[in-house]
Amino acid sequence: MVVAMALFAMYFHPSVHPRRTEEMLVASFKNRRMEHGFHYASPRQALRWLEVHRRHSPAAGGGPAAGIYPASMRAAAAEVGAGAWLVSLGCGGGGKERAWVEAGGLSGAVACDVSPALVWTARDAWKQAAPELEVRGVVADVRAVADLAPLWDGWTGMRPRVFTFFGMMPNFEPDEALPGLVAGLRAEDVLLLSANLAPGFDPWEGCTHVLPQYANAETEHWLRAVLDDLDVPREVFDVEFLVRECRGIHRIEATAVFRAPGTVAAGGASWAFQPGERLRLFFSQRPTLAQVRAQCADLKLRVLGEWVAPDGQEAVWMLRREGAGE
Ligand SMILES: C[S@@+](CC[C@H](N)C(=O)[O-])C[C@H]1O[C@@H](n2cnc3c(N)ncnc32)[C@H](O)[C@@H]1O
Repeated sequence: MVVAMALFAMYFHPSVHPRRTEEMLVASFKNRRMEHGFHYASPRQALRWLEVHRRHSPAAGGGPAAGIYPASMRAAAAEVGAGAWLVSLGCGGGGKERAWVEAGGLSGAVACDVSPALVWTARDAWKQAAPELEVRGVVADVRAVADLAPLWDGWTGMRPRVFTFFGMMPNFEPDEALPGLVAGLRAEDVLLLSANLAPGFDPWEGCTHVLPQYANAETEHWLRAVLDDLDVPREVFDVEFLVRECRGIHRIEATAVFRAPGTVAAGGASWAFQPGERLRLFFSQRPTLAQVRAQCADLKLRVLGEWVAPDGQEAVWMLRREGAGE
C-alpha cells in the first residue's frame, strides 16, 4: 500500500518516516555500520556531497566518464521512443539526466531520493531545463521499491519508463535494492544502470588507483557531517580510507577510528566508543566489468547496450527484464 503525503508537489513515502529513520540510525550505531542514506539526508550533507561530486567524480565537469551517461540516455530515448517517463532512483542533484530532460521527448520525470534537499535540487534543475515538463518528486528509500511502484505507476500510466540507477550500485550490497527494482520492470521499460569499477586487470590495484577520489579533504568533511550533527567532537576520531575485498568484490571503505573516548546519543540510546573502536561510515563497491555482467545475467536482465569510460572506472548498461509481462 502506498501512503504518500503531498508537500509542494514533493511526496514523502513512509520508508522515510521519522520513526523508521530513528530505528535505522540506532541500528547503524548498534552494528557499527552507518546507513548510507544518513550521509545525504540533511541540507548540509547534500551540499557537502554535491561539492564532493563536483570536485572528485570522473563523471562531472567533462571528466573521463562524462560521455557515457549522455550516450546511454540517447540510446534509451531511441529505444523507448517519444512520450516515455524518466524515473531517476537516487537522483542526487539530477545533473546526469538534465540534458535529456532539456532535449525533450519525455512525457514526465520522477526524481526519487532519500534526501529531500536533493529531490528539490533535481526537480529545480529539470524544471529549469524544461519548464513545461511534468516533474514529480518523491522522498523515499529505494529499498522499498516494491511498495513505491504503485506510486509512479499511477503517474506514468501505461507509458514506457526509463529507470536510471546511477551511482547507486556502489552503496548497496548486491542483493539489497536492485532485485526489487528489476521485479517491478514492465516489458516496455528500460533500466539504465551504472557501476563504478575497479579499473585494470588487478581489482586491488585498480581500487588503490582510485582511492584518492575518496581519501581527500572534501569527502572526509562530507562523511564527518553525520557525527557532527550528533555533536560528536571532531577531535575524538579520525577517518580512515582503505581498500577491502568483501564476498569477492573489492570496495573502498571509510571508517571512523576513535582516538579518544566519545559518546554518541541517538534515538533514546547512547553508545560509548573507546580509543581504537571503529565505526564504518561508508563503502563504495568497485566490481569488475565481468562481475556486473554476471549480476545482470543472474537477474535475467538482457543487455541492450554497454558504455565503458575510456579509463575503465565507470560503465553504464541499458537493460530490459527478460520475460517481463509474460
Ligand atoms: C552517489 S549519489 C548518486 C546521485 C546521482 N544518481 C548521480 O549519479 O549523480 C547516491 C544518491 O543516492 C541517494 N541515496 C542513498 N541511499 C538511498 C536510499 N536508501 N534510497 C534512496 N536514495 C538513496 C543519495 O541521497 C544520493 O543522492
